[in-house]
Amino acid sequence: ALKIGVLASGRGSNLQSLLDAISAGTLDAEIVLVISDKQNAMALDRAAAQGVPAVHLNPKDFNDRKSYDLAIAELFKERGATAIVLAGYMRIISRPFLESFPERVINIHPALLPAFPGLHSQKQALEYGVRYSGCTVHFVDEGMDTGPIIVQAVVPVEKDDTEETLAARILQEEHRILPEALQLLAQGRLRVEGRKVQIL
Ligand code: GAR
Repeated sequence: ALKIGVLASGRGSNLQSLLDAISAGTLDAEIVLVISDKQNAMALDRAAAQGVPAVHLNPKDFNDRKSYDLAIAELFKERGATAIVLAGYMRIISRPFLESFPERVINIHPALLPAFPGLHSQKQALEYGVRYSGCTVHFVDEGMDTGPIIVQAVVPVEKDDTEETLAARILQEEHRILPEALQLLAQGRLRVEGRKVQIL
């Protein structure tokens, strides 16, 4: 089974979708450690509730991003993680972390990349006036939401949508495609070729 380390900053509903898929037997994986940069992240409680090790590490206790990232990479390695999922992790990952898990760091983003990278993607989509948005699971590189795309899902933007209603519609799809993408990884069915991902 794939040994997954999770980084999360908040609510943790995407972490929950992974835990649920593992329980349901649709994701052949184990979550070996959850790390949050935020002390009050609900993600930590969700992990603990399932007996998954969960720790808060405060970036302010480190000199710079690189030393923080090296510390969390070390913790994941100690637990035997072979893939890392950014499940609502609101920080940029630095090169030393990526070099610890080459082509094994995956992010979920609430827009159809390359549209609306960065923060507040649902708001960006509403303000732009797109008729469709969605979510993207992709491999992480050093850019901001720029790595090779694994899976996407589309949702319509309705005329009365607020940031909250659109975010909720997108989130439903996130909870479907994140476990799906990880199952492809667990089965060894993802091949990165340059900027593209082949699904075998
Ligand atoms: C999700 O919508 C995720 O796509 C987004 O934050 C939310 C986290 O929800 N991630 C980003 O915006 C990354 N820049 P969750 O904590 O309930 O999984």
